[in-house]
Amino acid sequence: MPRISVEDLSKHYGDTVALDDVSFTIPEGEFVVLLGPSGAGKSTLLRLLNGLATPTEGSIYIGDEQVTGKRSDIGMVFQMHYLVETMSAYRNALTGALSRTGFLESVTTSYDESDKLAALEALDTVGLLNEARQRAGSMSGGQQQRVGIARALVQNPALLLADEPVASLDPKAAEEVMRYMKSAAAERDLTTIASLHQVSLAREFGERYIGLRDGRVVFDGTRDDLTMDIVDDIYYDDAEEELGGVLA
Ligand SMILES: Nc1ncnc2c1ncn2[C@@H]1O[C@H](COP(=O)(O)OP(=O)(O)OP(=O)(O)O)[C@@H](O)[C@H]1O
Ligand SMILES: [Mg+2]
Repeated sequence: MPRISVEDLSKHYGDTVALDDVSFTIPEGEFVVLLGPSGAGKSTLLRLLNGLATPTEGSIYIGDEQVTGKRSDIGMVFQMHYLVETMSAYRNALTGALSRTGFLESVTTSYDESDKLAALEALDTVGLLNEARQRAGSMSGGQQQRVGIARALVQNPALLLADEPVASLDPKAAEEVMRYMKSAAAERDLTTIASLHQVSLAREFGERYIGLRDGRVVFDGTRDDLTMDIVDDIYYDDAEEELGGVLA
């Protein structure tokens, strides 16, 4: 599994600087949590990594290959799982193979045995093998999100990206989904970058943390380095301070 390197990456939307000269490298197999307040650039960074958006400046490499567009070997888990509710967990997981075969091909050809095996293995990884035949729409939010992870695993990705994967779940389900995501990544030595709003969850599951604020990296370190002061630095809104200055 290759390492990821992000070099001098910037993304502008008109006058808005969503990402401003961001650089880092991630060795293979690392589980990275992206932190930052709303508008910090987390989703933008993930979209650039995924090839869904193009950088204004800078570049991204997966191993020696530059990311220049959407790639089939990057798995993505979203806040909303976008499962087909009428299909079983197994069928949904299997659609992860579409990114490799292509949609048109998938209409005309059936999945091969290795795809089917991969779907079952992925469901096993997220603890849902016994629920494989259950309709996705009848599953709990946490279970559905685990099916979403299974679907990403079936892609056999070189990189797993997750944008607020547990934001719409209750704390218990959120913790469970994170536990499965972490063990799935560890089992496959899969490099993972997940943005998380909940600092307590982030502290529990991250190995390395990249803190973004106003599109810039304001922190890059391990769990031990991520003190409450640092968390305050990443999230603290200094508008209050400015207002204090005005009122003083
Ligand atoms: N497609 C777009 N067009 C214009 N501006 C955008 C677009 N996408 C993002 N932005 C802007 O870029 C900045 C970063 O947004 P981004 O969605 O990456 O932040 P975020 O950290 O994911 O925030 P949140 O925690 O709310 O999801 C924001 O100012 C946002 O308004
Ligand atoms: Mg976002």
